Amino acid sequence: MELSQLKHVVRPLVPAGLIALNARRHREGERQLEIQRRQKFNSLKDIVSSTIAAIWALTDSQCADADFLENIFIPALGLNDECLHEQPPELSASFGKGLHIWQYPSQLAGYLVWLSRNAAHIESYLEIGCRWGGTFILISEWIRRTGGRLRAVTCVDPIEPTPFIEAYFDLIRKQSPAVQSPIQGTYLCEFSTSATVRRAVDRIRPDFVFIDGDHSLRGALADHLLVRDYARIIVHHDVYSQACPDTTFLWETLRRLESHEFDFVEFVNQYSSVAGQFLGIGVMKRKSQF
Ligand SMILES: C[S@@+](CC[C@H](N)C(=O)[O-])C[C@H]1O[C@@H](n2cnc3c(N)ncnc32)[C@H](O)[C@@H]1O
Repeated sequence: MELSQLKHVVRPLVPAGLIALNARRHREGERQLEIQRRQKFNSLKDIVSSTIAAIWALTDSQCADADFLENIFIPALGLNDECLHEQPPELSASFGKGLHIWQYPSQLAGYLVWLSRNAAHIESYLEIGCRWGGTFILISEWIRRTGGRLRAVTCVDPIEPTPFIEAYFDLIRKQSPAVQSPIQGTYLCEFSTSATVRRAVDRIRPDFVFIDGDHSLRGALADHLLVRDYARIIVHHDVYSQACPDTTFLWETLRRLESHEFDFVEFVNQYSSVAGQFLGIGVMKRKSQF
């Protein structure tokens, strides 16, 4: 073999080896981060009960006050610290704190107010892609606080349940039936495409679903179809995000294709301090229900 030909054989091998090494290092870095994060969440898990107490201590007028929820209540619950370039720097005191909720307060506040008016008759809540569990715990308790009669709360994520979710399920198990109606908490450590999740959805028949798992077009649409026959309220996340073009496109599509059967409400407020548009909560409520 000529030297010039040998180069073609050897050269691609060097970068490939380096890529594999870097990928291994990256995976190891991620694993270490995950371990540290879980240790931190373990030390924070008492905030689950104080958060629930704080939700139940709100007055009805506070539950309907988007300004108070956005600027005081939600930042105090604590926000996630991943993808910080999508987050407004003025909220930095809340990042990496408390429940690590992965939402914009400016969007979540309006959604919570909407929910206060629409929670009655909700009996089962399902969140697909719950990550650390902050939004799941907040929304579950918000539904209960504002009149929903929840009998089942279910979350799906292929990652192990976090100490927040374990603490929450412990609390609802121990709640006295004399004070609160019993509620079944289920964690499905699975992809939403699994047969186990399909069976659980057919059994629970969730009437309220938050979809925030697989952000590909096929994945988010499959989640929509998974719950569409049962859910009276379906909420899609990242419906207004340049980082998630597929879910944004799906939302535009659903607004056109599903408008005969659902009413649509969006919570997509942005922060001028952030370069770009991100997240976005899209609510679909079946017509003539509730
Ligand atoms: C953006 S995070 C969810 C944030 C969370 N809903 C919140 O508001 O704090 C997306 C999560 O979806 C999970 N996920 C990805 N694909 C999924 C699938 N097919 N089924 C269920 N969860 C999935 C990921 O593991 C990740 O934890």
